[in-house]
Amino acid sequence: MLGPEQPVILHMLDIPPAAEALNGVKMELVDAAFPLLKGVIASTDAVEACTDVNVAVMVGGFPRKEGMERKDVMSKNVSIYKSQASALEKHAAKDCKVLVVANPANTNALILKEFAPSITQKNITCLTRLDHNRALGQISERLSVQVSDVKNVIIWGNHSSTQYPDVNHATVKTQAGEKPVRELVKDDEWLNSAFITTVQQRGAAIIKARKLSSALSAASSACDHIRDWVCATPEGYWVSMGVYSDGSYNIPAGLIYSFPVTCCNGEWTIVQGLKIDEFSRKKLDLTAQELTEEKTLAYSCLS
Ligand code: LMR
Repeated sequence: MLGPEQPVILHMLDIPPAAEALNGVKMELVDAAFPLLKGVIASTDAVEACTDVNVAVMVGGFPRKEGMERKDVMSKNVSIYKSQASALEKHAAKDCKVLVVANPANTNALILKEFAPSITQKNITCLTRLDHNRALGQISERLSVQVSDVKNVIIWGNHSSTQYPDVNHATVKTQAGEKPVRELVKDDEWLNSAFITTVQQRGAAIIKARKLSSALSAASSACDHIRDWVCATPEGYWVSMGVYSDGSYNIPAGLIYSFPVTCCNGEWTIVQGLKIDEFSRKKLDLTAQELTEEKTLAYSCLS
């Protein structure tokens, strides 16, 4: 996650009923003898867990259960994120980088940002790299090419089924140089419909198949997100990250929205100047609209 030479001390936080299982995870981490793992703190105390952390990966949240309304789960999670924001605000390192994974990820990140005002807003992000990697995977399968040869897809917006996976700027490395994905796929009907819905609904498809939410791919993409943020994106590549909107691409400022970004010296920058066609514009606005509604709902849950 932090490159091949950076030692880490892991701080793991869970709720008291999970303390024993958490200790089991700690035992396994010790047993794995990871050369870069210099220490493990397993705790049910948010203060102990948050003290001096440099990178916080927020995976905790209340899952939606049968019979629960969206508002019920939103209400539980925004209160969790409000209190975790306070713990990070008071105890984490001042330049702590935060990645929110738990759903509703964008809105949880927004609440965390609002209630941890001393953490710079550029350091609070949410995970859409999972969706980005899913889009790369779909293109790689469709074209029977190595996934590492596909680049610069974009996930716009919310980590939800309104997200917009966009291939209009994506390319594939071929023997004849880089070629646009659209030119190679030669099927705009698929790219504008089935491809988009497959990526949008991949999380639900995995839950249906596994009876559990994504785990390996989510963890791997969280590593990718932090690694590229800290160690930089390779030249000519961008990735998707949920970040605080500054109004780029006419997305309302004040939302945590997924944009294409490049990273350098530990900072992300939104890729500017990409052409947005009419089809894409509608999709960018639709997912922004959903995030605006989530924001209002989240605030109503906190009042
Ligand atoms: C995913 O995209 O796999 C998850 O966010 C799905 C979920 O609701 O846990």
